[in-house]
Amino acid sequence: MATTKPVVVYGASGYTGRLICEYLREYNIPFVAAGRDKVRTQEAIDRIPGIDTIEHEVVEVAHEVESLTELFTGAQVVLNTVGPFSEYGHEVVQACIRAGTHYLDTTGEQDWLIECDEKYSAAMAERGSVLSPGLAHMYTTGEIAANICLETPGLDTLDILVFWKGFPTVASTKTILVNAALSDAFYLEQNRYVEWPADAGLYDVTVPGQHETGLALPWGGTSHPVWFRKDPRVANVKALGGVFDRQLMQGVPLIVQSVLAQVEGLSDADKYKLLHDTAESVRSEMPPRENPRINTSLDSVHASGPLGRAHCVIHGNCNYKQTGVLQAYAAFSLLQQAPRRVGFASGCQAFGHRELLGVLRSFGLVMEPVVTVYR
Ligand SMILES: NC(=O)c1ccc[n+]([C@@H]2O[C@H](COP(=O)([O-])OP(=O)(O)OC[C@H]3O[C@@H](n4cnc5c(N)ncnc54)[C@H](OP(=O)(O)O)[C@@H]3O)[C@@H](O)[C@H]2O)c1
Repeated sequence: MATTKPVVVYGASGYTGRLICEYLREYNIPFVAAGRDKVRTQEAIDRIPGIDTIEHEVVEVAHEVESLTELFTGAQVVLNTVGPFSEYGHEVVQACIRAGTHYLDTTGEQDWLIECDEKYSAAMAERGSVLSPGLAHMYTTGEIAANICLETPGLDTLDILVFWKGFPTVASTKTILVNAALSDAFYLEQNRYVEWPADAGLYDVTVPGQHETGLALPWGGTSHPVWFRKDPRVANVKALGGVFDRQLMQGVPLIVQSVLAQVEGLSDADKYKLLHDTAESVRSEMPPRENPRINTSLDSVHASGPLGRAHCVIHGNCNYKQTGVLQAYAAFSLLQQAPRRVGFASGCQAFGHRELLGVLRSFGLVMEPVVTVYR
């Protein structure tokens, strides 16, 4: 059945989907909460305080192009949180193309971004729709910091770090493992993708605002090399990420190496099964709701050029909430005006980095950026 609501949140039974619905309520946007299981989705939505103050409906939908197209027809914006997106995203984007809606998701998977750009951007652009995978804390907040640095002309190299404190959700854990085991990771050198060594290992990093160093990984390459590859201001991008907890970080390469050894020689279907089973053994339950006193985030960008340097740090909290509000604001914006770019576009390219910063600031999720410019 086609919808009469302007926005569909797909994956609304999940941690991030529910947060998006909460913020859609705050933006006063009627929405459809869709999921593969109506009971689970209804239970998630019923737990949102004040949900009866916004028009909404809960719908069960099969994860196939036909059913998704039917549901999306009549909507203007689809916000997809069903990840890993390299595994489950295709059906949803194809349905958006058929239904003529904008598509946004919460991915941080570099391979999914590259596929979106190469396979679906032209069709979305033809319809005047934006295709914006990856509007989420990882990596939009860092993209905002990078763009603040790039307000100083003449800087062409971005050295990016993202850290957060908390527990990944069920789908995040699957996504991290699937991404680490099945996809290559790239950084950008002179606007070309260069592969990180498979055994890149842990990097010691200086973490702005603390005395202790941190441990970080290329984390699947991140979205930044894809977003900045065709940006005429930028030639080189390297990004590292992780959690603040050093001990936890020390365990990540061990888990990844053990998974890599186990998937060797398996069929694709068996690889996914093994990766999902392993992820569920690490995390099978929804983590607790975020607490700003515990769940902090840090995005730091050093930008440099032959004759200049800039550094921007954004201290924040509750990275899943940051993701929720960014998605809800994007829908709010798209219901009122065209995006700045159609087809494949990052959050900042489609909605503006100063606007997205303002949104995060207005919901108390980030501090005013700490910016230092050297000329
Ligand atoms: N980049 C970032 O900063 C960021 C932030 C937040 C989330 N994310 C990404 O967003 C995705 C969702 O995260 P989450 O926190 O919402 O995870 P979650 O709480 O585990 O929710 C996952 C959602 O996907 C649905 N789902 C899972 N497998 C499905 C399938 N085969 N068919 C249809 N629906 C399926 C689940 O439905 P059921 O309830 O029926 O299982 C649930 O609605 C993950 O890939 C995560 O990495 C990224």
